[in-house]
Amino acid sequence: MNALARLVSDTPELRDAYAALLSGIRLSAPLASGKSIMITSTQPNEGKTTVASCLAIAASLAGQSVLLIDGDLRRPSLASSAGITNGVGFGEVLGGCAETADTIYPVELFDDARGSGGISVMGAGGRSPEFLPSVDWKRARTTFQSISERFGLVLFDSPPILAANDALLLAGIVDGVLLVVGAGSADRHEVRKAKDQLEAVGTPLIGAVLNQFDPKIHGRGNQPYIGYNSDSYR
Ligand SMILES: Nc1ncnc2c1ncn2[C@@H]1O[C@H](COP(=O)(O)OP(=O)(O)OP(=O)(O)O)[C@@H](O)[C@H]1O
Ligand SMILES: [Mg+2]
Repeated sequence: MNALARLVSDTPELRDAYAALLSGIRLSAPLASGKSIMITSTQPNEGKTTVASCLAIAASLAGQSVLLIDGDLRRPSLASSAGITNGVGFGEVLGGCAETADTIYPVELFDDARGSGGISVMGAGGRSPEFLPSVDWKRARTTFQSISERFGLVLFDSPPILAANDALLLAGIVDGVLLVVGAGSADRHEVRKAKDQLEAVGTPLIGAVLNQFDPKIHGRGNQPYIGYNSDSYR
């Protein structure tokens, strides 16, 4: 997390891109009455965890209080990257077998003298994803909405949407979804299918991030993200 924070803070293009993404999120009409966002993609390795972490860092650098939740019980990674060793987290809160206070940790962004500033992180915990279909999602929504009240922005990392049902279940407890699209790996038809599946859940797709974009390979331009409005994908 410290290395990523240094990268975002010290790379003007990255800092600007995430600042613009944050503004887009703030201005997003579907999010007007909410602030919890799930970051997902169609396939593995398109950069969900990286984008969720960088967005959390950028929001913290902009003075927002941020909670970053690892909602990926299949490939959890945020607890280890944030240096959290306690084994309870998102899965246990979902299952109603942990107190929220025992699962949220303050994480400093910088380990040098550039000052304080941090984010709060809830790791994935130790439960396997097989229990997700039996979760009381209505209760879970209430729980996470009440957690959200204590933060300016709540970001959920998640598994890929087409790999398992987990991300669609999670979509039901957030206010909006941000889709990460790997520039070299995403398939247009799969992106459209994911969009349709999200629309069926009813949670607004607030936009997309074109990630891993290499102008030498994928064409001209230097925009690391594109349109916030799902109309861009019609
Ligand atoms: N914009 C980027 N530029 C270069 N490398 C990137 C970028 N975004 C992500 N990566 C790298 O791509 C790899 C996959 O990223 P990440 O773990 O964030 O993807 P993910 O979608 O969360 O994967 P998973 O589906 O396994 O959870 C990592 O090695 C990460 O450092
Ligand atoms: Mg990930």
